[in-house]
Amino acid sequence: MQLDSDDERILAGEQGETRQRMLELLVALGKVFGAEQLVPIRSAQVSGASYKTIGEYGLQWLNTLDAKAVVPAVLNPIGMPRGRWQEIGIDPDFAQKQRAVVAAYERLGIGLECTCTPYYLRETSYGDHIAWSESSAVSYANSVIGARTNREGGPGALAAALIGKTPCYGFHLGKNRRPQVVLDVQIATRDWTVADYGALGYHAGKLAGNRIPFFTGLQPDRDQLKALGAAMAATGAVALYHVEGVTPEAQRQRFEVNGLEKIPVELKEIANIFKEFPVEAVALGCPHCSPEELGTLARLLGGKTVTKPLYVFASQGVIDANSAAVAGIEKSGARVYADTCMVVSPVMEQYSAIMVNSGKALAYVPDMCGAVARIGTTEECVKVATE
Ligand code: F3S
Repeated sequence: MQLDSDDERILAGEQGETRQRMLELLVALGKVFGAEQLVPIRSAQVSGASYKTIGEYGLQWLNTLDAKAVVPAVLNPIGMPRGRWQEIGIDPDFAQKQRAVVAAYERLGIGLECTCTPYYLRETSYGDHIAWSESSAVSYANSVIGARTNREGGPGALAAALIGKTPCYGFHLGKNRRPQVVLDVQIATRDWTVADYGALGYHAGKLAGNRIPFFTGLQPDRDQLKALGAAMAATGAVALYHVEGVTPEAQRQRFEVNGLEKIPVELKEIANIFKEFPVEAVALGCPHCSPEELGTLARLLGGKTVTKPLYVFASQGVIDANSAAVAGIEKSGARVYADTCMVVSPVMEQYSAIMVNSGKALAYVPDMCGAVARIGTTEECVKVATE
């Protein structure tokens, strides 16, 4: 693997043990995946931030590190809203451990915007090389923005943040970004909602597996693309997809897809995912809500009062920039929380049935929260939470 003189000095330990260990990790990863060089990155997004997922050993490892991020970097959602953890019944011992994890990342110069939607906070552009780790963020960056990232593990993303580079393999190379299977959606999708796209992603992830799908027959907006990609990354290993005439690489590259396997997707396969049964709580914002999604929720909740717990998750930056919508949502009794989400926080573990509008949450809530999950449109979720 080609390394420059700066890299050689880091490997020789001239910039401290942590940077040496982090670069050794990147070089080892690069060798495993056949990278010929490292590529400079514009930003990093680091998973392994919730104490629920990294536990004591993860915290101890973070505390052994001593260096500063050299590119803009943010954290993935953590296990609680930092300023409002008592409000949702987080155990004080958990809160103390979670604060220690956050303090460790802060010491390493990682920004404390704890979100899976960093693209709402800092501009990421077509062709940018980045090192992001949360699967829905990776999918959005690759597919909707046209940036280039592999799905980094937490240590790999942290190492990239501290070094400012990542091994150049996989989705950093144009030749690995071509479609591998066509998913032909034979459904009139003009009136489809975010939840419909989430359900499509839930189904399509299983069809695509670890291949790069090329969708035909869709006209999604950006929130719907976000929902589609998040769900495919949950039920499959899809970190990049293309939508004919919509996503940037599909528009610019005009991929030749004749000759690829073509799988039809029919309405009954998506309709079967929408099942109705009683729930105890509703959770929205997986991935974290966009400004438009907060606005829609404020409108739907206007003049209503919740009769079941309704949790909404978004990044602090999006909450701060949309305070009127957030106030409107909270006036109904619903709560909008930053920093965390329904999956990485222990808060949802108190419920046995949860309604969501997200295909990703539908896939993860059963295992991560020990609850059955029901998917419905945002309108249906609001109706169930206020009836
Ligand atoms: Fe984000 Fe949590 Fe969903 S990290 S994509 S809100 S599971």
